Amino acid sequence: MTDIKQNLGIYFGSQTGNAEMLALDVSALAPTYGFKPSVAGLDEISLEDFTENKFIIICCSTWGDGEQPDNAQEMFDLVNEVDESTLQDVQFAVLGLGDTAFDLFCESAKEWDVLLEEKGGTRNNARIECDVDYEDEAEDWIVSTLESMKEVL
Ligand SMILES: Cc1cc2nc3c(=O)[nH]c(=O)nc-3n(C[C@H](O)[C@H](O)[C@H](O)COP(=O)(O)O)c2cc1C
Repeated sequence: MTDIKQNLGIYFGSQTGNAEMLALDVSALAPTYGFKPSVAGLDEISLEDFTENKFIIICCSTWGDGEQPDNAQEMFDLVNEVDESTLQDVQFAVLGLGDTAFDLFCESAKEWDVLLEEKGGTRNNARIECDVDYEDEAEDWIVSTLESMKEVL
């Protein structure tokens, strides 16, 4: 029997690869913390893939005027339509990438963070909103998130 309790879905919404690189960083570290990671673009998975995880980390940039990246909007809309208890067994955390030069800074990540809670998920770590110089704080957040998720594994 497959044990899914260690499944960690790491999904990225990314237009030019920054959020994707961070998602790959999460995936590389995750086994050290006892997780079985699957990393994918938000347009590369089914809704079922998304909802069957016990742990989800979203890494998502913001584009246009506060919009989801092209590869994230469809999954966002699908999750938006699920029942409110669908993610009741899911622990989640959201990493946002953006640029404070824009009015709607990290808006997509905010939307994911709100949505996953609305659908019953438990926020395991506070959302981080990264500006253009993000590498160090993003890496610190990744480690603190995996440590925090490991506590409830
Ligand atoms: C045309 C354009 C529009 C953008 N719009 C926003 C925005 O509305 N809000 C924001 O916080 N960042 C915005 N950004 C910044 C990107 O989110 C940021 O560069 C991010 O690191 C891109 O990550 P990605 O490569 O994973 O897509 C924009 C960047 C560009 C080039």
